[in-house]
Amino acid sequence: MINLKGRDLLKLLDYTPEEIEYLVGLAAELKEKKKKGIPHRLCEGKNIVLLFEKDSTRTRCAFEVAAADLGMSSTYLGPTGSQMGKKESIADTARVLASMYDGIEYRGFGQSIVEELAEYSKVPVWNGLTNEFHPTQILADLLTVKEHFGRLRGINFVYMGDARYNMGNSLMVGCAKMGLNFTACAPEKYFPSAELIAECEKLAAASGATLKFETDPKKATSGADVICTDVWVSMGEPAEVWEERIRELTPYKVTAEIMRNAGEGAVFMHCLPSFHDLGTVIGREIGEKFGVTEMEVTNEVFESEQSLVFEEAENRMHTIKAVLLASLA
Ligand code: CP
Ligand code: NVA
Repeated sequence: MINLKGRDLLKLLDYTPEEIEYLVGLAAELKEKKKKGIPHRLCEGKNIVLLFEKDSTRTRCAFEVAAADLGMSSTYLGPTGSQMGKKESIADTARVLASMYDGIEYRGFGQSIVEELAEYSKVPVWNGLTNEFHPTQILADLLTVKEHFGRLRGINFVYMGDARYNMGNSLMVGCAKMGLNFTACAPEKYFPSAELIAECEKLAAASGATLKFETDPKKATSGADVICTDVWVSMGEPAEVWEERIRELTPYKVTAEIMRNAGEGAVFMHCLPSFHDLGTVIGREIGEKFGVTEMEVTNEVFESEQSLVFEEAENRMHTIKAVLLASLA
């Protein structure tokens, strides 16, 4: 019997495969209820607070809608407008918020910040993205893979691009725990840290997953079920790194050729937002400066039948709802 009441979600490394499976299953149940219009106000009267030191569309909206569907109120505190960090320490903020709210979401910079919040908070703390990890995104990704392929175990999951940041790290952990074969494909300097790889090797040995680190896109993507990527420059990184990233990661762009190499049944995934055209301010700025029209994925692949990106985005809400319900009710 899985009981997650009162638990923080700081990183997937802290959860057992059974607990992750439970959350993915609960999310699927909640998704069905939502689709059928069956009310599920199972946290009626509770209140949660959402701390965002970085921007967000999906994560913020997922927490707000999930909270509302469960009968809870949510308070959003953005990068400006609260005392946190400037006049009040993390430890003090945690104790104040925990005295008023039933749970705290945090999106921001170092993993140590969300860990400290949790240390000083008597209510659950959920990581809505740090530089190192993005655990709620991985739950959505696992649900999306499960819905599409009907299973997680044995799926060949290839992550292209900057694999040493929040998405690459967390996907490696999620795959290693849940028995998906994970390949990171990038120049070597973009592979996850040796320490995290060593930890995941142990998890993979237990789950039957394999972990591979490959610099050749053709070799990496042959036989892949899922080709996944993320932006080449993450929130909070300096603009100066764009030139180097474009130069070094362009060979790892997800193109129609890469998808063909993977095979007909392969799908494309991306946590979003994505630079797949010149339809954004930053996309246009970078496009003009470096003479590119798309970055980590071509518009053709992004818009193709093989792309699951919008299903994946929707699943953020159902999986975050599962995390809220499991830790609060
Ligand atoms: N994928 C994701 O976390 O999106 P947001 O930055 O919009 O929350
Ligand atoms: N790696 C990206 C993920 C966004 C959801 C970032 O941190 O900006």
